[in-house]
Amino acid sequence: MAKFTQIQAPKGVSEYFPDRSNVFEFVRDCLIGSAKSAGYRLIELPVFEDTDLFKRGVGESTDVVTKEMYTFEDRGGRSITLRPEGTAGVMRSVIEHNLDRGQLPVKVWYSGAFFRAERPQAGRYRQFYQVGVEAIGLNDPEIDVEVIAVAERAFQKLGLKNYTLEITSLGDKQSRELYTKELRAYISTLDLDEETARRAEINPLRLFDDKRDEIKNAMRNAPILLEYLTPESEAQFSRVQELLNDLGISFVVNKRMVRGLDYYTGTAFEFVHHGLGAQSGIGGGGRYDGLMEQLGGSALSGIGFGIGVDRCVLACEAEGIELPDHFILDLFLVPMSSEAKARALKLADGLRSAGLRVDLAYGDRSLKGGMKAADKSGARFSLVIGDDEIASDSVALKNMRTGESLSVKMSALEETLHRLLRETLGDR
Ligand code: HAM
Repeated sequence: MAKFTQIQAPKGVSEYFPDRSNVFEFVRDCLIGSAKSAGYRLIELPVFEDTDLFKRGVGESTDVVTKEMYTFEDRGGRSITLRPEGTAGVMRSVIEHNLDRGQLPVKVWYSGAFFRAERPQAGRYRQFYQVGVEAIGLNDPEIDVEVIAVAERAFQKLGLKNYTLEITSLGDKQSRELYTKELRAYISTLDLDEETARRAEINPLRLFDDKRDEIKNAMRNAPILLEYLTPESEAQFSRVQELLNDLGISFVVNKRMVRGLDYYTGTAFEFVHHGLGAQSGIGGGGRYDGLMEQLGGSALSGIGFGIGVDRCVLACEAEGIELPDHFILDLFLVPMSSEAKARALKLADGLRSAGLRVDLAYGDRSLKGGMKAADKSGARFSLVIGDDEIASDSVALKNMRTGESLSVKMSALEETLHRLLRETLGDR
């Protein structure tokens, strides 16, 4: 018979399966938990949108829009793009559903897959995962700092240490107008190829982003935006720094930070991890003053972040962070007969309803095979059920860490397990 060829995942996608999916889940839930604890509420959006949303929202000069979008025509002839980031879609939804007519700021979080056709490498994928938040409708340093703190507290909760928060300000419209004039004058003295000159024409800041040595060198003496802030923008940026200090959140000011998306204004930030090599940005975000208007909505400002779940997983692994206890199974049951299988299934069902994490051996296994499965499961306790156990209504509950066994009546299993787990782990 002809052998079918094996199908593999598309190039450059990240995927998680056991055991590593535990780390992914832990990281994602920690990030989401931090957002929820600050009153952010779920917004669940489509993974594909009208292509114009990203062209207009993310910016025509960005790598994301010019080179990295997965764009296709759907069956109705519409141009559709797989979302490369989350902010534009959130703004589209806020405008479309008038969410900004209620109480401000609108505070939402999201989590899911994003798509950029980048050259794959460690920590850079074509499908990757983000947890993001957006706070829309308020332009106060307090909310800037809240957003940064949500990310910072999540990283702390994960146990990450080896990273730095970098911040900057891209100023208000007036600051940027003044600065852009100076920057354009500087750029006009450079000898640029046509494509680069075109990008610089749309957004001269993009040249700071260029990876080519000749452009990097040429931009070394370019004027710096932070030095052109109006007194109001300067005051806002100082206040952000003051409030971060108040919360004990350490940071460095990175005068040369350039975010890869065009919509940023005012406060911008990045979390950079030192154990990840080239793809060191574990999260980033900032304020976007004109985005909502640009997408046909009112002139409200907003601020948010996107944190890369994949890169946080790598960061946790680089720092040797251990998973918390709730990823570990409490009990593994090994039934030895057909009657025992039914009994084990019922026991497991009852114990699960009582809040315990329980799994059992399926199929026909020898005692040795069953115990091997118990061992592999990583469960804290195991027990074997055979005809003798059913007849006596009691089992030997084995502590898989110490090897000790305890005889327990089946009816007392739930209570005994809760007690033993409390004794070893404290209140969960
Ligand atoms: P971003 O800086 O483009 O911002 O992406 C945020 C994070 O997503 C990055 O710091 C990185 O951890 C992760 N990331 C980006 N691209 C990749 C990739 N190809 N592979 C793996 N991880 C990646 C945004 O997306 C903005 N929407 C954030 C934001 C929200 N700004 C305001 N609100």
